[in-house]
Amino acid sequence: MKFFLDTANVQEIREAASLGLLDGVTTNPSLVAKEGREFIPLLKEICSIVSGPISAEVISTQYSEILQEARELAAIHQNIVVKIPLIKDGLKAVKTLSNEGIKTNVTLCFSPSQALMAAKAGATYISPFIGRLDDISHDGMKLIKQIVTIYRNYGFATQVLVASVRHPIHVVQAALLGADVCTMPFKVLEQLIHHPLTNSGIERFLADWKTLQSK
Ligand code: G3P
Repeated sequence: MKFFLDTANVQEIREAASLGLLDGVTTNPSLVAKEGREFIPLLKEICSIVSGPISAEVISTQYSEILQEARELAAIHQNIVVKIPLIKDGLKAVKTLSNEGIKTNVTLCFSPSQALMAAKAGATYISPFIGRLDDISHDGMKLIKQIVTIYRNYGFATQVLVASVRHPIHVVQAALLGADVCTMPFKVLEQLIHHPLTNSGIERFLADWKTLQSK
């Protein structure tokens, strides 16, 4: 499973990248707005830190404008993946861009039928938002299972990128289902590492070792 960081914060990206376990980054307009920085220079900086797919989202919702924005974003760096919302004009743009060899991440996916349409359009990634489904009492993970099954049934090349991840269990469940990628906030990446028994185990080992030194 590939790990992407779901943030536009360069400090977090640098720290995660230093672990050597970071495969890519996903951003969205809300995450970029949180940083209060100009989009393009921020994107270039992220591309200079991580050598993997970096998702940058269009804000247009009309076919021709989406295409223009997507081409401009893709021209910034070879690792840019253009994030496009799952609407009719968006899918049409994904089809055109995929024919041009531009990588796409179809975002705001909340149903298996939407995921099927994105795969047919030739999306590189589909981003089902599981946390937001959980928030409204729907089972986000059930959607991942459905998409993984549908894609396997037909051998679609579109990768399932689990998004709107809120806690480490989401990552583990997505891995059990065979999702290709999980994008997560920095906090969740750190939570994946920690276990209280590991910490107390280290403390005990070190304390016991100290008693040996004093003999
Ligand atoms: O990047 C898209 C997605 O991961 C957003 O997550 O927490 O705003 O639902 P969230």
